[in-house]
Amino acid sequence: MSQGSSPTRETSRTDNDGNDADDDNDSALGSDQYSTASITSSTYHYRQLGGRSYPNFRDVDHWEPVDEKQQESFDIRHHIYLMQNNQKLFNAPVQPRCVLDVGTGTGIWALDVADTFPWAEVIGIDLAPIQPPWVPPNCRFEVDDANMNWTFGDGRFNLVHIRDLVGSIRDDEKLYAHAFCSLEPGGWIEHTESFMIIFSDNNSIPEDCVYHDWNRLFDEAGEKTGKSFHLAERIESSMKTAGFRVLGSRKKKVPIGTWPKDPTLNEVGLWNQHRWMEGLDGYGRWLLKYVWSLSDVDIELFFTRTRKALRDKRIHAYELYTTVWAQKPGPGGQ
Ligand SMILES: C[S@@+](CC[C@H](N)C(=O)[O-])C[C@H]1O[C@@H](n2cnc3c(N)ncnc32)[C@H](O)[C@@H]1O
Repeated sequence: MSQGSSPTRETSRTDNDGNDADDDNDSALGSDQYSTASITSSTYHYRQLGGRSYPNFRDVDHWEPVDEKQQESFDIRHHIYLMQNNQKLFNAPVQPRCVLDVGTGTGIWALDVADTFPWAEVIGIDLAPIQPPWVPPNCRFEVDDANMNWTFGDGRFNLVHIRDLVGSIRDDEKLYAHAFCSLEPGGWIEHTESFMIIFSDNNSIPEDCVYHDWNRLFDEAGEKTGKSFHLAERIESSMKTAGFRVLGSRKKKVPIGTWPKDPTLNEVGLWNQHRWMEGLDGYGRWLLKYVWSLSDVDIELFFTRTRKALRDKRIHAYELYTTVWAQKPGPGGQ
């Protein structure tokens, strides 16, 4: 497992009431008074379930592992995203100066931005210190929980980037409100998410197909954990509530499998099928155990049914992703 990134901040913080934010009795779920906490050694001792490693930052119980196997699926998603976005890292019409990547994962997007715009300062935050140790001088990573209050300072960034955080955000309006404050007037936010529904346009998903179970699992997981898997539907309205001007959006179908005739979509479908095959255990294990209370045997059977569906050429399934970019009003704003 790559656990290499060095902690860049080891600060002892106090919350708004003056309490020690590093007190182990504090509950990250019950209190959101402060943001970055010090990286204790426990942060590097990942929670274990079924041989998989999950983030262990304070008491945040995250549903998806962050071990090397799952990191591969994060990075495949990045590759797919670039393939479908003409290799552009973002759509907002901004010259990056100071950039925040929220829930950075392996840091693949942040590192690409830092390499492409060497004059920009790029910061990636994540619950897990899984980013590589060797990074360009203009990029750094911090362990942080985006659901807590942000402590970066007002007006610091001119681009905040968020991607693939389903099941991770307790209050999306609050997340955008934090982003709004931390952006300079005229600064941009861009957010990409999956709708977390497996679709088909030609009714090729049989009624008893496991894909319907996945759709239901994600719905119920959000309700049970209080962290929705349906962020995509709300991005525009929640950004507007936070005060942003939504100035662009696009939706992309991401096929599962090689059924599309279009060569680019066919290649995307192949990558996405591979991502599902590799990521499957990580997407489902925690949710099936804690949301549906399935036994280990039933979990394996669920995965077997899923692999069968993923290989079934008669099923023309796809996922739908949305990207929305918006601007904080003010000088320099449109
Ligand atoms: C699916 S990965 C996406 C990584 C990256 N955004 C990308 O698109 O390549 C989700 C990441 O979000 C992190 N994460 C989940 N909840 C978080 C939170 N509340 N604050 C910060 N990071 C979080 C996870 O640890 C994981 O690395």
